[in-house]
Amino acid sequence: MMHHADGEVLGEFLVSARSLAEYRAMFQLSDDELSGRRILDCPGGAASFAAEAAELGAQVTAIDPIYATAPLELAARATPETERAVAWAHAHADRYRWDWYGSTARHATIRRAAAARFAQDLPAAPHRYLAGSLPSLPCADDSFDLALSSHLLFSYADRLDADFHLAALLELARVAPTEARVYPLLDYTGAPLHDLVDHLRTELHDKGIETALRTTGYEFHHGADTMLTLRQAD
Ligand SMILES: C[S@@+](CC[C@H](N)C(=O)[O-])C[C@H]1O[C@@H](n2cnc3c(N)ncnc32)[C@H](O)[C@@H]1O
Repeated sequence: MMHHADGEVLGEFLVSARSLAEYRAMFQLSDDELSGRRILDCPGGAASFAAEAAELGAQVTAIDPIYATAPLELAARATPETERAVAWAHAHADRYRWDWYGSTARHATIRRAAAARFAQDLPAAPHRYLAGSLPSLPCADDSFDLALSSHLLFSYADRLDADFHLAALLELARVAPTEARVYPLLDYTGAPLHDLVDHLRTELHDKGIETALRTTGYEFHHGADTMLTLRQAD
């Protein structure tokens, strides 16, 4: 596997840094959905969602295995990781739609600002950042009103198999039975994963989880305009 961002294979999981604005668009989040709600962001990565949404009154917990890293060490990693993510996207610019961002430069600016915000928030509010991994989160049943999962499931289907996806989705539904939202439903090369999505929806239905596909207001990879929602049936 190559460990640089200009090849065809992305190396280790990127610790990417999306902003609240991107989360709002990807997950169609309204102000009401953010205010006063218990929200899980898993994987949190170096996103500034937790910091920014907390400022709006949300009770956000971000979970990611990288939060086992010492805060200052991880904060320092956010910048080079963001440059790796930006380099990957810009090297494969034709795979993406840039209209939401306006330009590749604006995309880089947003991601750098998000990484900086994360790096500032991590040591200042460590209670928001919990080390943990799907498919087994260190949380009680029904800990959250809403779970958000961006750019781990489906994105890394080259190394995470269908069983992992199913276990991870069941885990999100366990800790956030009212609603979980997952985006995108394509892998990181932009390949759609209809068969995997269909298979998982059938399995989830059989296990008492209702799923739906919902169009989002955001499309970065061409065709990535859909999120998967999960809800435990009554
Ligand atoms: C591309 S980032 C996405 C971060 C953030 N959601 C965003 O959209 O900017 C993927 C993250 O998944 C994390 N990760 C890898 N394996 C994981 C697992 N089993 N459970 C939870 N997070 C995991 C990585 O550490 C990395 O931070």
